[in-house]
Amino acid sequence: MLVLPKGVRHMPAYLPRATQEAVVEAVRGIVQRAPLFVPAMPRTGKEMSVRMTNCGTLGWVTDKERGYRYQPTHPLTGEPWPPIPEALLDLWRQVSGYPHLPEACLVNFYAPDARMGLHQDRDEADFAAPVVSVSLGDDCLFRVGQTTREGGTKSFRLKSGDVVVLGGEGRLAFHGVDRIYPSTSALLKNGGRINLTLRRVTKPHEGPA
Ligand code: SIN
Ligand code: FE2
Repeated sequence: MLVLPKGVRHMPAYLPRATQEAVVEAVRGIVQRAPLFVPAMPRTGKEMSVRMTNCGTLGWVTDKERGYRYQPTHPLTGEPWPPIPEALLDLWRQVSGYPHLPEACLVNFYAPDARMGLHQDRDEADFAAPVVSVSLGDDCLFRVGQTTREGGTKSFRLKSGDVVVLGGEGRLAFHGVDRIYPSTSALLKNGGRINLTLRRVTKPHEGPA
């Protein structure tokens, strides 16, 4: 059995097929309003291989000049991001164990040759909230490690409908996508993989409501 680092949960086939289809439909609507953009690395401007957009009150963006950040509007259209679909808020309520809703949902689209290098999700102000990630479409080889680059890593396949939660001691675990397995799912008509990551960005207001 594959033992994952503490705080890292893999929930295979968590979303039923009908829910996956409904979420893909919702993502189509999001992409119409907030087109996929090409993210670029801070300073070098090197383009990432994934295409991105967001929904929620905040979206994660990156470019050469201003680097990694969250912002309330799309970098090209200047429009607010569309709202997070209810099915994803439901998922967050079910699996996050966190009493406030997510503010950001990053939508990553992977063509067959796209990947994502090992990184930590650390642009959020509140690490008490987990990162909840949903896979749709083609399988990928996901890699997850410790909270330092030196720790060993484990690799496993993520399939359409799988949910991964990085929470608690696993919140800052390094993770990445080594490869996509083309034509392993029929969910997306033109193939590829969609990953959705739900995040709480700001610290909730404390004290009397
Ligand atoms: C990410 O870390 O932003 C994406 C992870 C994934 O595609 O599964
Ligand atoms: Fe990430």
